Amino acid sequence: MARETSPSISSTEFRASVGEFATGVTVVTATTTDRLAGMTLNSFTSVSLDPLLVLVSLAHGSRTLDVVLEGRTFAVSMLRRWQRDVADRFARRAADFPRYLVEESDGFVFVVDALVHLGCHVHQIIPAGDHDLVLGEVVTMRRRSGDPLIFHRGRLGGLAIDAHVAADSLGGWDLDV
Ligand SMILES: Cc1cc2nc3c(=O)[nH]c(=O)nc-3n(C[C@H](O)[C@H](O)[C@H](O)COP(=O)(O)O)c2cc1C
Repeated sequence: MARETSPSISSTEFRASVGEFATGVTVVTATTTDRLAGMTLNSFTSVSLDPLLVLVSLAHGSRTLDVVLEGRTFAVSMLRRWQRDVADRFARRAADFPRYLVEESDGFVFVVDALVHLGCHVHQIIPAGDHDLVLGEVVTMRRRSGDPLIFHRGRLGGLAIDAHVAADSLGGWDLDV
């Protein structure tokens, strides 16, 4: 498939630059009565408090997007520091769905023992280049304590202790979401 890129910026350079932005790592899963799909995903962000909205960006041609479009729901599992193997497993193209890594709850399929589980109903879908931006309204949530898995410069790892921001240093900010 032909890709439209700015003539002066290669996709390799672009990936290297946006890869400087450290993120957490999630697994997004989706189900219908006869299909189950899931992928490792770092393009997660919270969007709105009223209603409670989150956003994920799913590649055209991915099985997960297909099942989200059909079932109109999806689940987000935020991975823990030690769940790197889970991230690797859900990033394998065309691999069988690893049922042994998930559990069902409230009609959603979540990664077992993830830091946070969010069950979402599709709110809006916005086509964007070779991905669809899927906004989901959060209808179920569960949070455990622990450290997150981090994605940075194409690698999976943990937070260095000096990267933690002291809790009281957020006092002066106006954090909407
Ligand atoms: C750290 C990491 C983050 C990823 N983030 C995304 C993402 O945000 N969106 C996406 O479409 N694919 C993302 N991928 C790639 C998918 O996990 C991968 O293509 C997967 O095999 C798709 O599975 P599916 O076709 O079964 O849905 C990511 C992969 C890794 C390792």
